[in-house]
Amino acid sequence: MEIRSIKRDEFREYASVWERTFNFDGKDEELEQEADAHELDRSIVAVDSDRFVGTGGSFSFDMTVPGGSVAAAGLTAIAVLPTHRRQGVLTAMMRHHFDDVREREEPVSILRASESLIYSRFGYGVSTLDARWKIRKAEAVLLPGPEGNGSISMIDVERARTVLPEVYASAARSTPGFLSRNESIWKHAFLDLEHWRGGFTSNRFVVYEEQGRAHGYLRYRVKDTWEQSIPKNEVLAAELMALTPEAEMALWRFVFSMDLIDVVRTQNRPVHELLDVLLAEPRRLEKRRVDGIWTRLVDVPAALSARRYRVPGRVVFEVVDRFLPDSGGRFALEGSLDGASCEPTGEEPDLIVDAGALGACYIGGGSFEMLRVAGRVEGTREAVRLADTMFSWHVDPWCPHYF
Ligand SMILES: CC(C)(COP(=O)(O)OP(=O)(O)OC[C@H]1O[C@@H](n2cnc3c(N)ncnc32)[C@H](O)[C@@H]1OP(=O)(O)O)[C@@H](O)C(=O)NCCC(=O)NCCS
Repeated sequence: MEIRSIKRDEFREYASVWERTFNFDGKDEELEQEADAHELDRSIVAVDSDRFVGTGGSFSFDMTVPGGSVAAAGLTAIAVLPTHRRQGVLTAMMRHHFDDVREREEPVSILRASESLIYSRFGYGVSTLDARWKIRKAEAVLLPGPEGNGSISMIDVERARTVLPEVYASAARSTPGFLSRNESIWKHAFLDLEHWRGGFTSNRFVVYEEQGRAHGYLRYRVKDTWEQSIPKNEVLAAELMALTPEAEMALWRFVFSMDLIDVVRTQNRPVHELLDVLLAEPRRLEKRRVDGIWTRLVDVPAALSARRYRVPGRVVFEVVDRFLPDSGGRFALEGSLDGASCEPTGEEPDLIVDAGALGACYIGGGSFEMLRVAGRVEGTREAVRLADTMFSWHVDPWCPHYF
């Protein structure tokens, strides 16, 4: 079996592998745009007797980490034909991916998983969570909260093409887990093809502005449903991004004041958000958490020195890496709010961690203490406590981007 990248004229055959694996019929009209959005030099195909049987690829992201950012390869489009499953095709593609990540000197690989039991074996750990919630509009009574002197307006898609990337880029700077969106990602985000809408309207855009500057936006859709002359319409708040609490609450007030709406749903929100403390009856909000970004450190010293640490400290890690043993080893990390260094060392470790456990804790989401109790981290209570305090951050990690 050969593993290689594809050329543009092979994109149809490449896409047909995921269409058969993920059980949908792709439309020819979107193939060109899909091909534009993919970084073809990073595509992966497994070829068996001249036929494509497995696919993958990655995006070149900058991921926000506490106090900075790191180059992160966003693994995507993983699929193996049903005829070739459990024969090691994915494993071979993962090895190819990590070789590529090393060659590009990206310290970290990240992904979103279709099934959450696939990727631990490759050294990934859950580093961000997505929350999805719904609430009946009539039950969403808001307490008095932050109010600015800005204004809300509906904007057309042309204006949205400028406003959304600007606000997103500012929001991305402060929250660990955010991924950079380049021009081709934004172009794809605005595609809004009819068969992607699942019965909802096209995207609507709302902006909150103060003194001529956009401080937040909402992208939403509505599903138009009536039962016996009663409106049962649903709003899907697909992406609400705010730079200030005033902007955030102005946008939620807009959502909860829309007429003819029965239910408000979201797609991906932080697990804890301002709304949680501003709802008069918080239990009315039905929230479900799922794993978001899975993170894997490929170059431990580069990854750990790319971030800042909440308190000054020094920890010697031994990283046990079963899939990439040469990415593991002993490393001395010294970090603070001002900077960090991490070097291979021969010293005795304070903490022994598996690769997935380190990935889970990398941007402040996971807990070394919880993983110690679970048997995936070994070390003294003091060392675990110091690592947890160093790695924690004043903003919980969250990633609103899908890839
Ligand atoms: C998930 C998928 C990519 C796995 O590909 P594959 O070529 O069968 O995987 P491999 O043969 O390399 O399996 C490697 C190991 O992972 C295990 N594994 C792989 N997929 C698994 C799954 N979905 N559930 C449980 N274990 C799985 C295998 O059993 C094997 O374990 P072993 O090493 O202990 O024998 C493939 O089944 C697929 O395309 N599924 C549908 C699409 C999908 O879920 N894609 C992932 C997108 S994020």
